[in-house]
Amino acid sequence: MQMTKPVILTGLRANNDLQIGNYFGALLPIILMAKQRAGEYQINLFMPDLHSFTTPVDHAQLQNNIMNNLRIFTAAGLPLDNPDVHMYRQSYVPAHSELTWILDCFAGFGELSRMTEFKDKSARLGVEHIGVGQFNYPVLMASDILLYQAAYVPVGDDQRQHIEFTRMLAERMNNRFGELFTLPASMQEQAEFFGSSEGRALRIMDLQDPTKKMSKSDESGKGCIFLGDEPAVAHKKVMSATTDSVAQVNHDTINQPGVSNLLRILALLRGVELEVVVHEFNGVTSYGDFKRTVADEVAAFLTDFQAKLAAVDDTAIKSKLAESEALMNQQANQTLLNVQKAVGLR
Ligand code: TYM
Repeated sequence: MQMTKPVILTGLRANNDLQIGNYFGALLPIILMAKQRAGEYQINLFMPDLHSFTTPVDHAQLQNNIMNNLRIFTAAGLPLDNPDVHMYRQSYVPAHSELTWILDCFAGFGELSRMTEFKDKSARLGVEHIGVGQFNYPVLMASDILLYQAAYVPVGDDQRQHIEFTRMLAERMNNRFGELFTLPASMQEQAEFFGSSEGRALRIMDLQDPTKKMSKSDESGKGCIFLGDEPAVAHKKVMSATTDSVAQVNHDTINQPGVSNLLRILALLRGVELEVVVHEFNGVTSYGDFKRTVADEVAAFLTDFQAKLAAVDDTAIKSKLAESEALMNQQANQTLLNVQKAVGLR
């Protein structure tokens, strides 16, 4: 049971509410592909539930969070009735864990130690407080991608290193054992494929500190717009976003990171090129109206999205999961079997 069409694949963790960085960085690109190009491509949007424990999680809430994320995938417009579109939970396809172990034995301790996320966390908390899962999860992520021979993996810019690592590991295995894996496209090729005007993956920044990325693990929540935020609350977050004293609405990520981030968010919400919104605010010298325009657009987006979310049908989700998980087990097991044979286990 091999994939007959090139695969576009991504996953979004279920640790907390998703935020607009996740939405625009990974979810929307794959949903647009599912709507526009399924037929030509196989689309895999999955829930990396085994990744949940790399950071602390409320285990009693995990099932709810998983279901909620699957509802979000659906509300965002994933066409569940399309036979080329698959939605599944990682832990329901045991080959992910099995391939991870095998790949672990070919991944370097040194290269995993150099992963930015691991380095940052271990510097902050000390290695004694870092789980082995946190250290090892790039290998699980590589397995998620390689099992389905994915060609394109829409992710935000923060996942760049993991995509590069996946390519390197796949190449290493192919060089040693023959053509086992498709190499996913480089981040540069992906940016072109997904039509990024700047030729790089997206990085939405924190509203309070626009020098760091917007993140769902943000503690105060003030710099982050969650998909579940009350529209009025999100409106306030935008109105109190950090800007600067330049008094010109320019896209200049070095000198005006806050304003640039708001321009970017506005362009994404409207589905237009960045230049279009930059042009709209040309010559504007006060930030009040500019921020209000962005805040109104954010609030309208959330109102609309939340209405769609409330209308999602859980039965449709459950039957899609059953169907996709059966098929994904067949596809993943085929790749796993090839690997098992190559390394001498079969
Ligand atoms: P996760 O769950 O942290 O984030 C999900 C996706 O959202 C993107 N993202 C952003 N994009 C732009 N701006 C931001 N501020 C922003 N914040 C988050 C992330 O880059 C990601 O694409 N390890 C992955 C999940 C995963 C995965 C995979 C992805 C597991 N296996 C296989 C692709 C393929 C993660 O933790 O993403």
